[in-house]
Amino acid sequence: MGDPSLRPDRIPRHVAVIMDGNGRWAQQRGRSRIEGHREGLEAVRAIVRAAGDFGVEVLTLYAFSLENWNRPQAEVTELMRLLDHYLEVELEEVMRNDIEVRVVGRLDRVPLGVRKRLEEAIERTRGGRAMKLVFALSYGGRAEIVDAARKLLRDAELGKVDPERLDEKTFAAYLYDPELPDPDLLIRTGAECRVSNFLLWQIAYSEIYVTETMWPDFREANLRDALIDYQSRERRFGLTSEQVRDGRESG
Ligand code: FPP
Repeated sequence: MGDPSLRPDRIPRHVAVIMDGNGRWAQQRGRSRIEGHREGLEAVRAIVRAAGDFGVEVLTLYAFSLENWNRPQAEVTELMRLLDHYLEVELEEVMRNDIEVRVVGRLDRVPLGVRKRLEEAIERTRGGRAMKLVFALSYGGRAEIVDAARKLLRDAELGKVDPERLDEKTFAAYLYDPELPDPDLLIRTGAECRVSNFLLWQIAYSEIYVTETMWPDFREANLRDALIDYQSRERRFGLTSEQVRDGRESG
């Protein structure tokens, strides 16, 4: 049997990525963590292009977690600078490729310059139809749920929501970007098997793919492997295999 190939009719709509391993990649080469992040930026460039080419509709990148604010100041500054640099240098290319930029997270903590750059990117790419590129920035999954609950409670006080009738769909409408579909595939590079407070609500039924490849080494071929692996999974959403098969045949 030859290598399994990628089926264009079963590309996940939404791929979310925990880009881990920049520090270890650098350490293995006797280089600084910051250099690892700089190489990580090359992987971001490559994967944004590749995901669009594969036909992914939404690509969410975990660029900076709320916990990352506690890293050494120089590293935090460099990560913000890299994001700013990416948006500055790649915006034309992103627009040419008809990609829409979005952001989720507690942006009030993000330096003003970076926020402005993001606003510009969001504004200028609005309506891009090829792919949505979502940066999770100053993001925490629990914080997102708490922020949603806060907005919901305010609306309940105003009588706009009836607590007795609250359901998952109503709650999800209060998340940072309710227009996005849930991730079908969650990729984590750098070998660690955990979700690290990423999209906790949205990944309830996501397929999880963990690879030992460190983020700075992750390229189109690695993304293809992840997609092929995803295509071998049976997504049951709590049903039995038989129910899934029957549904597919009748639907
Ligand atoms: C985790 O690696 C990665 C990050 C905290 C940040 C990801 C940032 C980039 C890929 C740089 C550019 C980003 C954008 C969005 C333009 P780690 O440092 O935790 O690695 P380690 O687990 O090996 O220490």
